[in-house]
Amino acid sequence: MLVRALALVNIKNEIEKRRTFAIISHPDAGKTTLTEKLLLYGGAINLAGSVKGKRTAKHAVSDWMEIEKQRGISVTSSVMQFKYDGYCVNILDTPGHQDFSEDTYRTLMAADSAVMVIDAAKGVEKQTVKLFKVCVMRNIPIITFINKMDREAKDPFELLEEIENVLGINTCPVNWPIGSGNDFKGVFDMATQNVLAYTANNGQKEVLQDILPLDSDELKERLGPYMMQDLMDNVELLEGAGDEFDLSRVREGKLTPVFFGSALNNFGVEPFLKSFLEFTTPPLARESDEGIIEPSSDVMSAFVFKIQANMNKMHRDRIAFMRICSGRFEKDMELYHVQGGRKIKLLQPQQMMASEREMVEEAYAGDIIGIFDPGVFSIGDTICSVGSKFKFKGIPTFAPEHFALVRQKDTMKRKQFIKGINQIAQEGAIQIFQELDAGMEEVIVGVVGVLQFDVLKHRLEGEYNCDIIMTSLPYQYIRWITNEEIDVKHLDLASDTKRIQDLKGNKLLLFTSEWSIGWALEHNKELMLQEFGTNN
Ligand code: G4P
Repeated sequence: MLVRALALVNIKNEIEKRRTFAIISHPDAGKTTLTEKLLLYGGAINLAGSVKGKRTAKHAVSDWMEIEKQRGISVTSSVMQFKYDGYCVNILDTPGHQDFSEDTYRTLMAADSAVMVIDAAKGVEKQTVKLFKVCVMRNIPIITFINKMDREAKDPFELLEEIENVLGINTCPVNWPIGSGNDFKGVFDMATQNVLAYTANNGQKEVLQDILPLDSDELKERLGPYMMQDLMDNVELLEGAGDEFDLSRVREGKLTPVFFGSALNNFGVEPFLKSFLEFTTPPLARESDEGIIEPSSDVMSAFVFKIQANMNKMHRDRIAFMRICSGRFEKDMELYHVQGGRKIKLLQPQQMMASEREMVEEAYAGDIIGIFDPGVFSIGDTICSVGSKFKFKGIPTFAPEHFALVRQKDTMKRKQFIKGINQIAQEGAIQIFQELDAGMEEVIVGVVGVLQFDVLKHRLEGEYNCDIIMTSLPYQYIRWITNEEIDVKHLDLASDTKRIQDLKGNKLLLFTSEWSIGWALEHNKELMLQEFGTNN
């Protein structure tokens, strides 16, 4: 009895320390640079090796897939863990390339909060908007880091307005920049009313940071009368304007605290990290079909959010990444795979520590582990302690934006084609659809990032020995029809709208423009459409 109570206290303590977040941004905003600096504070990499660390980390992950090596980019997302100030921090990395995939979205399902990195010169960009939508869907806290203040930047008020207008979230600056580019002098901290002063360091990456009170002579001297007056005006303006800081609204994802800084110069990163850890919560409870599962429960549970295929070409093996949602995981423990309906042992559990992959002895709610998957797991599957059988709410299927008609070149290879395309779809790399009442001779493949088409072709050829013919389709939007009773064949649709179904028989519509979506809704009053599907 006492042993169990102690074990539960230990689980609770470990979970309290954990913070699991993803960084969202448009490519080039500085996500990798910020991640590096965060890892630096965690002691996970040393300064001299930081840039190299970035390359090796990317390389190590990229090595898993041949296509990535060929293209020199990372198509996968990885997870890094580090310790800082008594916290155990898990950063979920999301692919930075323009051709990101559904994995990027799914990774956000495993995070409890998000850091949104924005380039101060560019403001809110396209990919940020997409990723932001997924965070909002989950109501997770989003903390904003406006990066590259050492370069010419947009006006900070304008940047906040853009976040509010384009993304629809209220903002609350935690600090305020003084100048930008060559005139960047630092940031004013609202809470302490001190200035964290920035001194450019002859192009050195690490800059000097001094804390100067607002009324100090040194600050006046450094800023000069004009900038000093400007700062005082802004301080006054900020007191009267903007949203007040409200931690509960931050935690509900209704208000984003905003920090200004420069990741490259490691300026403002540590204060950001400290506040971020305070603002965000330990792992959150998750919804299952048997009710809410608390992280501190003594039942271990996890769900699969990503499957990484082809780690070893010879064996067609895969790694399933799972997010632990409750309890404590121990290597070699016997668990129950709910969707598979049987007991399992998780093989070769691994964790990423910065750029290294390590075997995991134990892990707690909030942690991400990768396990060897002989082909039994699907995205969204639940694994829990033997004796429990609940399932976590499914991971949504995100709307693909690119479509192609795919068929095998050699009709004798039909079996391989069907097997291959189904397996790749099961891993979640692509989504497959059919024309209404059609067979599998031809399938419509939908992807979130066009690179997935190359991955599909490459893998069908390499792993299933099956050449394909792919014809791209003009559709850009897909919607799930949510009212099942509707007669899809008799819907009144624009001529460029296509009726399709997924493999479970759910009916969908493909559109070439938003205008056609409007047309469909206008002419079929009872029609109900949804942008996200559900996996299970
Ligand atoms: P990403 O992961 O979001 O795609 O962006 P990444 O960190 O790779 O940064 C993109 C570029 O922006 C890099 O330059 C990086 O050095 C630069 N950068 C990041 N943060 C800052 C900052 O605070 N100030 C300035 N001035 N630049 C910043 P690059 O030349 O494309 O790459 P690299 O050769 O430096 O790696």
